[in-house]
Amino acid sequence: MQNQLSYPPRLKALLAEIESTEQISSQLLIRILKSYDLKADDFAEFTDFGHDPRHSYGRTKLHTGKNFVMYLMSWAHNDFTAIHNHGLTDWGAVVFLEDVDHRLYTLEDNHLLLAARSSIPMGTMVPVKGDLIHSTGNNTEKPSMSLHIYGSHLPLGVPNNPSRVYEPEKKRVRITSGAAFLNGTENLSEPEPGITTDEATLLDYMNMVLPYYEKNRESDMVSYIKSVIRDPAIYFAHLAGLPKS
Ligand SMILES: [Fe+2]
Repeated sequence: MQNQLSYPPRLKALLAEIESTEQISSQLLIRILKSYDLKADDFAEFTDFGHDPRHSYGRTKLHTGKNFVMYLMSWAHNDFTAIHNHGLTDWGAVVFLEDVDHRLYTLEDNHLLLAARSSIPMGTMVPVKGDLIHSTGNNTEKPSMSLHIYGSHLPLGVPNNPSRVYEPEKKRVRITSGAAFLNGTENLSEPEPGITTDEATLLDYMNMVLPYYEKNRESDMVSYIKSVIRDPAIYFAHLAGLPKS
């Protein structure tokens, strides 16, 4: 973890204010964040655009507090999270320091559906709770970043642990300590099979993740995804078409 003493003064002040605020909520957190007028330049030294290509985005843990955690996410071209929730998070916020591509999902009886897709403009702040299921990333050529704070009413230093990562290409859910890397290897427990979706959600998702698998030369998965994009019936027909994971 980054030594807090090396933080810029404004970030140190923000962390101290969050730490000392009793009975915090997402709305109160957002009011605090707005008073700091945070900009991308404030976090330039913490970016990780040159991350391991097997990680699908840059993820820098800035601080673990007594009941919250703060991350800076770095989004290079075609960097995306997997679809994920936020574990035990009771309160929190995302600050979009640049424009960020965002997909919101619903989940009912393991049926995952794309509810909305938009480009969230720089400066937007949105509340986060554990049951928020989304994917964020960058489909533009311009590098982007966002600040993420996940808090708990309990003394949990990392409230987004455990998180659920939804993997339509593998028809399963993986449990992680908070990371939402595409094709991640972290499994806190046995992955849970049985995720279903519809054709529109599937095609949007497969096109989103294809560049990641191509970059990492995952040839079996790349050919599977391309075949599903050409003919989605392959995906819905049976499990035999799934590539080896
Ligand atoms: Fe998230």
